[in-house]
Amino acid sequence: MIFALGVCSSVSYFEIKKEIEVTVKEWSEKIKNCASLEELEAVRVELFGKKGFFAKEFEKLKALPKEEKPKVAKELNLAKEQLFKEIQLKKDELLAKEIDKKLQEEYIDVSLLNSKGYKGALHPVMYTLDKIIEYFSALNYSIQTGPLVEDDFYNFEALNLPKHHPARDMQDTFYFKDGKLLRTHTSPVQIRTMLSTKPPIRMISPGAVFRRDYDLTHTPMFHQVEGLVVDKAKKVSFANLKFILEDFLHYIFGDVKVRFRPSFFPFTEPSAEVDISCLFCEGKGCRVCSQTGWLEVLGCGMVDPNVFEAVEYEDVSGYAFGLGVERFAMLLHHIGDLRSLFEGDLRLLEQFR
Ligand code: DAH
Repeated sequence: MIFALGVCSSVSYFEIKKEIEVTVKEWSEKIKNCASLEELEAVRVELFGKKGFFAKEFEKLKALPKEEKPKVAKELNLAKEQLFKEIQLKKDELLAKEIDKKLQEEYIDVSLLNSKGYKGALHPVMYTLDKIIEYFSALNYSIQTGPLVEDDFYNFEALNLPKHHPARDMQDTFYFKDGKLLRTHTSPVQIRTMLSTKPPIRMISPGAVFRRDYDLTHTPMFHQVEGLVVDKAKKVSFANLKFILEDFLHYIFGDVKVRFRPSFFPFTEPSAEVDISCLFCEGKGCRVCSQTGWLEVLGCGMVDPNVFEAVEYEDVSGYAFGLGVERFAMLLHHIGDLRSLFEGDLRLLEQFR
């Protein structure tokens, strides 16, 4: 307790200041002696909580004579600032200690001989990606790549997503100061490929993409595979697209039903979303498929004429599709929480050997 309410008018400012100094020292000591983050948090609440030390002391200011108030308030604020800083420093120290402890406990000497006979294995996402690439490579699709840091033009504008387009809201994006962005999908590689080559084109583009998302089924970084086929006008049809995707989905998921649902994407017209019959309940309806019996697995459509115009292609037709690799991996391996794929925990990875 810094100053006794009833007598404060008779107590000089200097005495109060001294008392504050002593009290701060006591609190400092308390902070220093905290051995865990929990203890520190308890002290923080004692000090700064709604009913904490400072709240009470500031309340007492009301009873002080007018001239004393600002002076004492200033001292209290200084003390508050100092103790706040001390807590912050102690917190950093305890956090660092905790990390060190964890690192030591979970330390793995990768240079040790492998006495348990463990073999390494592909990460489930890479395993799935390999399988997808295998299918399209066999059909002579080329593999194209593009930069992860993209221009607005390739990621949005040329894909028929002009600045005012409401569909831009579908993708919450990481932007850089210079207007560049982390690509939100692999579709910009379509544009890059069309601008650098002449038709016919038959390509897929696997790679990482980024969105501001984080929950059970979303991570800020994930992988997609884009597909694009372009040839002379009328040579590429929706029937071709349908045949390839059905065959592809059977290759990946085995004996499943496949259905095409009308949908919308700015870069394709007409567009469709493709579902497979639920792998977990065989279409009867369960939690994974939200009782619908179907699982959505990719988006596709015929390339929109505006996209061809942006890359100055004339008299051509084409189809495109895009899929999320993690979604495929989760379905193939029955993984419930997408985030667990990127935590690097060996206990999870060991299950996929
Ligand atoms: N780019 C879309 C996305 O990230 C996926 C996609 C849908 C790509 C349809 C396509 C397509 O090429 O035709 O959600």
